[in-house]
Amino acid sequence: MSVLVTGGAGFIGANLCRALLAEGHRVHAVDNLITGVRGNVQPLLWNPLFSFHEMDIVDASVIDAFQGERIDYIYHLACPTGVPNLVVLAEEMLKTCSLGTIHVLELARKHGSRVLLTSSAEAYGDPQEFPQREDYTGNVDPIGPRSAYEEGKRFSEACVATYVRKYGVSAVIVRIFNTYGPGMSLDDTRVIPQFLRNVRDKKPFKIYGDGSQTRTHLFVDDLVNGLRVVMEKGRAGEVYNTGGNTSMSIRALAELVISLTGHEAGINFQPHFIHDHAGRCPSTEKVRELGWEQHVSLEDGLRRMLAVCLPTLVTSSAVTLEKSTR
Ligand SMILES: NC(=O)c1ccc[n+]([C@@H]2O[C@H](COP(=O)([O-])OP(=O)(O)OC[C@H]3O[C@@H](n4cnc5c(N)ncnc54)[C@H](O)[C@@H]3O)[C@@H](O)[C@H]2O)c1
Repeated sequence: MSVLVTGGAGFIGANLCRALLAEGHRVHAVDNLITGVRGNVQPLLWNPLFSFHEMDIVDASVIDAFQGERIDYIYHLACPTGVPNLVVLAEEMLKTCSLGTIHVLELARKHGSRVLLTSSAEAYGDPQEFPQREDYTGNVDPIGPRSAYEEGKRFSEACVATYVRKYGVSAVIVRIFNTYGPGMSLDDTRVIPQFLRNVRDKKPFKIYGDGSQTRTHLFVDDLVNGLRVVMEKGRAGEVYNTGGNTSMSIRALAELVISLTGHEAGINFQPHFIHDHAGRCPSTEKVRELGWEQHVSLEDGLRRMLAVCLPTLVTSSAVTLEKSTR
């Protein structure tokens, strides 16, 4: 198969490209490097089946960029991410989710490609229903501080639904809940890399409010597998949640990371973010009906991430453990 991955130099995109290449697919990664980094795709460049195209999907030239190529599948992941970027990159989020998504769908029409859009749990906003099923229409403030991302994702979903209904494009949507794993930069502002950065720097974990806000966490290999399953088997025009199966408070997550790393700097509680959502929890019944399941527990996934991101810490704690059990 010949596959195009937009946002291919991002955290999830690079993991997806690696998995596709491992199965012998031809992979084109497109990225403008606004939140992704070239280093994520550098290790793939030796592979003749892989090519990287530095390109902004907001630019309409992307529609004609693959003239003469066969593109069977498009995984459309491109979107600026990160909480501090909700304001800093707000226009880029809105343009990428709107114009960018329309350009990708036009490209799909030209090539007759199947499309998978990565939407987000944030399409549910600050949810009032638990767990969130795909038919829950959410609770989004259209002018709130997170709106460029939340409404951007909802607009992208509306574009996909329109191209399915109006032009018969075969496209599916995955709403991703918190995902973590190797390939995430420790400069990333999401909660797990933030805690690991604090471990590396021997600084206290910062928790906003009392830490009772809940999230689920899914290891990136399980997420990539979920994207592949939905691409292969999802029904056109439908939405599938993918996320971890255990809901955990941020405080409990901090305690788990402390128990795995022996971090001694403790937790520093800060005033609550006004726009921090109290909880998020996916219903994953629909994706499980397609045959997907979570394989990696949070504890195992954190150990695997630590081994890659903080190898010296893992080695020294293994040594400490070995000494203490002698
Ligand atoms: N990681 C998560 O927990 C999570 C949760 C929900 C949704 N998602 C979604 O999954 C997708 C991938 O997320 P990620 O965690 O890998 O984030 P990421 O920021 O690492 O990757 C997104 C990539 O898109 C690229 N990009 C942004 N705008 C672009 C444009 N106009 N043209 C070309 N490239 C562009 C960025 O440079 C980046 O490499 C995103 O759509 C994100 O919204 C991720």
